[in-house]
Amino acid sequence: MNEAESSKGCAWITGASSGLGRALARRMAADGWRVAATARRAAPLEELAREAKDLPGEVHAFPLDVTDLAAVKSTVAQIEAQLGPIAQAVLNAGGHQPMRATEFASTVFRDLIEVNLMGCVHGLEALLPGMLARRAGGIAVVASVAGYRGLPTAAAYGMTKAGLINMAEALKPELDRQGIRLQLVNPGFVRTPLTDQNSFPMPFLMEVEDAAEALYRGLRSSRFEIAFPWRFVTLMKLLRILPASLVFAVTRHLVPKR
Ligand SMILES: NC(=O)c1ccc[n+]([C@@H]2O[C@H](COP(=O)([O-])OP(=O)(O)OC[C@H]3O[C@@H](n4cnc5c(N)ncnc54)[C@H](OP(=O)(O)O)[C@@H]3O)[C@@H](O)[C@H]2O)c1
Repeated sequence: MNEAESSKGCAWITGASSGLGRALARRMAADGWRVAATARRAAPLEELAREAKDLPGEVHAFPLDVTDLAAVKSTVAQIEAQLGPIAQAVLNAGGHQPMRATEFASTVFRDLIEVNLMGCVHGLEALLPGMLARRAGGIAVVASVAGYRGLPTAAAYGMTKAGLINMAEALKPELDRQGIRLQLVNPGFVRTPLTDQNSFPMPFLMEVEDAAEALYRGLRSSRFEIAFPWRFVTLMKLLRILPASLVFAVTRHLVPKR
């Protein structure tokens, strides 16, 4: 993707009020994109839009809760009416709630499924009719390397991310035929408000601007999977191909002591 790509329409980034989504919105606006930034909190989105005034592109704030399908559809319609067709969507909104097996609660699962999984599914349902009609557009689904294998305290989070990975793999060949570029984003640890709550060591932790740069580079490539940082991704991919007994030999050391 390049300047020609941004001239085909605007970008839509969900979860743009903080962390990775916010940094990516700035990065894309710095490259000339008109970015529709959505999240529930209006104030940080408006601040982002103000900050972007010095950049070559633009950021426009559209407050939105991705768990509300009707709101997602009407916001997509509003974005396209105001900024033109969405040429690149990044379905990034998500949350994490660590949960011990000893504190197992369906509410944690339901909350994360609603935001991480259904939030993304709602985005796809809102985007696809327009992109199919235009036979054009790119959609990036933000999952996580935590979706490769089950990890202690991440039963609910990892389940949603594994679901996104499987869903993207299922959709990709068919969308290719329709001229729609579907990509899967699997970050390792990135310093954001989401990871600030982690009390355990986070190997190869990335700064958010570096992660946004890697993501944006991936969006401009023809790769299906955009995963970073490569050292951590390689380790996690190794876990994915090891037999379960060897995986547990590693992951049992990740169970919190208390
Ligand atoms: N940080 C990492 O190490 C890491 C690693 C792998 C994957 N990821 C994934 O990267 C994505 C971004 O995470 P982050 O680290 O940047 O976290 P973050 O700073 O906490 O950002 C999460 C974003 O999602 C938005 N959001 C949450 N619930 C929402 C809802 N119901 N409707 C609309 N927006 C909602 C939040 O905005 P509001 O609160 O304003 O709604 C916020 O803008 C997530 O999908 C996360 O799972 C992160």
